[in-house]
Amino acid sequence: MIRQYWRVFALTFAIMLVGAYQLYGVFSNKGYEPVQPINYSHVLHAGVMQMECLYCHNQAEKGPNAGIPGLDVCMGCHAVVKTDSPEIQKMAKYYAEGKPVPWVRIHRLPDHAYFSHRWHVEAGVACQTCHGPVQNMPVVHQWTKLEMGKCVECHRQENYAGQIHHPATFHEPEVTAAEVAEAPKGLTLEGAEEDPQWASAVSEFKKYHDAKSLSPDDTKVMLARLKQYQNDIYEHGRQYQTRGKNASIECSTCHY
Ligand code: HEC
Ligand code: HEC
Ligand code: HEC
Ligand code: HEC
Ligand code: HEC
Repeated sequence: MIRQYWRVFALTFAIMLVGAYQLYGVFSNKGYEPVQPINYSHVLHAGVMQMECLYCHNQAEKGPNAGIPGLDVCMGCHAVVKTDSPEIQKMAKYYAEGKPVPWVRIHRLPDHAYFSHRWHVEAGVACQTCHGPVQNMPVVHQWTKLEMGKCVECHRQENYAGQIHHPATFHEPEVTAAEVAEAPKGLTLEGAEEDPQWASAVSEFKKYHDAKSLSPDDTKVMLARLKQYQNDIYEHGRQYQTRGKNASIECSTCHY
């Protein structure tokens, strides 16, 4: 009797696995290349004309989304460039009617994962690292699965920082005299350890720094920075943080 149940269970489980795998294929989306309402080409604009990615996707510097440019950006040129083209006339019609172009979105992470373009742009990670050579794609497609393994593969590297040509954002910025003056007077690691208000800043500090190798002033400023950083996140939510102090691979880095 129990064995029979077991078989039914095993079979159901197998079917679920196959289903999940297929669903995964659908959602992982690699290669997804939908037909877009206007035949806009990255090869021409970002490739041949070498327009900066951020010229059009300037939200990427500011927050989670890279954003798709509004037609005012396009019409800046196309009010006069190539106005005899049917594609441009289509665009001019949307513009005149004040309607957004219904571009089909290609990249999308599931809700449980947390991502912001801003940290990556600020750290100097090139768009192409995640999106591939978009400037050579006549129609944008999803170049790689945006799967967790890809994120962690980069984050896990001990010196992933150094490989991204932007050392300034990785190492703690130099401690300045002004910061030393602003930090709470008399703040020490030992003192902070006793104070519940500082407990969580102290525990972060210990993950990243060895107090013995730091001067008292550096210790003070770095503790104060961590506390400020935690307050900012608490007040504004993670998407407004300037940047991570350390893009660690703790689960909570990317999952709520
Ligand atoms: C002239 C403006 C412009 C420039 C410059 C530009 N893009 Fe785009 N980009 C668009 C528009 C419009 C779309 C939406 C239509 C489409 O998918 O082709 C788009 C879509 C995309 C998408 C797909 C978004 C989605 O739906 O998931 C990616 C990725 C992208 N661009 C990356 C880049 C990169 C990388 C560069 C620089 C190499 C770049 N773009 C330069 C206008 C631009
Ligand atoms: C800096 C100026 C500039 C901007 C901004 C710009 N374009 Fe263009 N676009 C051009 C030029 C130049 C051409 C090539 C015209 C030619 O073939 O002579 C072109 C060609 C095109 C074409 C092909 C037209 C055809 O039928 O050959 C389309 C479609 C197009 N652009 C859409 C867009 C869209 C959508 C945007 C905004 C996301 C945009 N462009 C922004 C300059 C610009
Ligand atoms: C570290 C990887 C990574 C880098 C670097 C990166 N992106 Fe993205 N991009 C993503 C992911 C992941 C998504 C899906 C985000 C989501 O669904 O919330 C995405 C989505 C997009 C989208 C569509 C949705 C949106 O956010 O508006 C555009 C457009 C885009 N990226 C353009 C760019 C451009 C331009 C750059 C460079 C300035 C860039 N990306 C750099 C990973 C990256
Ligand atoms: C090519 C390397 C690379 C890839 C791929 C990458 N990241 Fe990052 N990530 C970085 C860098 C660099 C930073 C900035 C670290 C800093 O400023 O200290 C960062 C920062 C972050 C942060 C903020 C860290 C913090 O401690 O608050 C999150 C969250 C994040 N990435 C999520 C993702 C997700 C999700 C993906 C995959 C869709 C991804 N990253 C892919 C390099 C990468
Ligand atoms: C650097 C960012 C990052 C870190 C760190 C991270 N994840 Fe993820 N995780 C993602 C992204 C992006 C996805 C969505 C894409 C995917 O399904 O692969 C995801 C998906 C998942 C899923 C859903 C898989 C599915 O098939 O739906 C689980 C479960 C998960 N992560 C657990 C974890 C656990 C447990 C940890 C800590 C050991 C962790 N993650 C750390 C970025 C991250």
